[in-house]
Amino acid sequence: MVADHYQKLSGHRPSLKFFKADYRDKQAMTAVLEAYESPLGFALDPIESPIPRRSKITGVIHFAAHKAVGESIKQPLKYYANNVSGLIDFCSLLGDFGVKNFVFSSSATVYGTVADIGVPLREEYCSQDRTVFVDDDGKQKVQQSGCSGLTNPYGRTKWMCEAILNDLAHADPEWKITALRYFNPIGCDESGLLGEDPRDAATNLMPIVLRVITGRQPILNIYGDDYDTKDGTAVRDYIHVTDLARGHLAALKSRTDKGFKVYNLGTGTGHSVLEVVAAMEQVSNRKIPTQLVGRREGDVGMCVAKPNRAQEELGWRTEKSLETCCRDVWRFLELDRVAKEEALAKASTVKEALASDLTKNDAMITVSPVEEISATEPTAQETLTTEPLANESLAIAALATVSLAMETVAKEVIIANDMLTKETNPEEAMSLV
Ligand SMILES: NC(=O)c1ccc[n+]([C@@H]2O[C@H](COP(=O)([O-])OP(=O)(O)OC[C@H]3O[C@@H](n4cnc5c(N)ncnc54)[C@H](O)[C@@H]3O)[C@@H](O)[C@H]2O)c1
Repeated sequence: MVADHYQKLSGHRPSLKFFKADYRDKQAMTAVLEAYESPLGFALDPIESPIPRRSKITGVIHFAAHKAVGESIKQPLKYYANNVSGLIDFCSLLGDFGVKNFVFSSSATVYGTVADIGVPLREEYCSQDRTVFVDDDGKQKVQQSGCSGLTNPYGRTKWMCEAILNDLAHADPEWKITALRYFNPIGCDESGLLGEDPRDAATNLMPIVLRVITGRQPILNIYGDDYDTKDGTAVRDYIHVTDLARGHLAALKSRTDKGFKVYNLGTGTGHSVLEVVAAMEQVSNRKIPTQLVGRREGDVGMCVAKPNRAQEELGWRTEKSLETCCRDVWRFLELDRVAKEEALAKASTVKEALASDLTKNDAMITVSPVEEISATEPTAQETLTTEPLANESLAIAALATVSLAMETVAKEVIIANDMLTKETNPEEAMSLV
């Protein structure tokens, strides 16, 4: 998928190296880091003062996390183990190798119920250190360290990770750590060649909209129309993934100081559920069936960023609108549909049809040709063969959009991910480089 993307684009592609690894696997991550060690200096007494390790790696962006809010409530230990313990061990290992420029995927969820105050959120509202600042109403405020009203374990893991990283930067001033609080990333690469497969059940609005528009889900539930917002439905700050990716580059390039710093990555403009539905309907020229249900537990009415700090300090601002997000996603879905239809037209067996990633749930794709080919239901074995494909596309897409833009700051992008399947095994992926 990534190779195809770069092949069809005229620009040069960054060197990408993939390693299939759980980032908590110390042995595997040590091997990756060792592969990028710089030639060392020498020490007069290596026992008394061991030679510090040096690395050719100039920065690390840490995306790996479990992120489903509902699952985090049911399985909190899974979240704390992966998102928090994993981060501690990983940073410890990076420190051993002298890699101390770190960008962390944080989230607007750290604002908890503070988001409900109804004004754009400043980073100071959720601080890791006591902060004195002049608020937008002109009054001086004191924010004690901490955040109030975190509503789920996932949000708590992000908050804890920020706190740990802040402590680390205080303890060792060599670290430059940037926590980026993402608001609501949507959209996909404008080429339409990289995008997120809306196959998996989701709880975020846009993936559900896509599931409904592609016929995988019959109706979109709207959770509450009695919020104190423009049309009563919940308002969020939707940011295009390409703008989000650029925010990471800005963090890597523009920060000259060391220490721990937090930035909101959002547009500063809120859109309601109904506005998102209308925008998607307009670009797709399709009707999205909706039904109103009650408020969902843990939701806040409004969550919109005040993005000024990133604008002023990182020189970053968003460029893409909600309409662009919807248009890019629709282009991806259309290209995907055409590719699947072409594959289906060529398929001569059930197995080939399945391998072309078609299932009876793909309602955008005409179901009947599959049935013409298939006299019987696909066997469990055949159905299973399509699963790794779906997971793999998601994992790669999530990373590839960011890595696409990385060529401007890195000669080579190293991607460690636990979800790489045989379709993207390291040997094959290395041949992309
Ligand atoms: N998507 C959002 O709305 C959103 C909002 C705020 C923050 N974030 C954060 O951004 C980051 C990326 O999110 P995404 O939306 O691309 O999610 P995603 O689930 O698509 O990607 C996360 C990737 O991390 C991998 N991963 C998880 N645990 C791992 C481990 N132990 N070792 C190696 N790989 C591991 C997963 O396999 C997956 O490919 C996450 O940290 C998430 O919490 C996302």
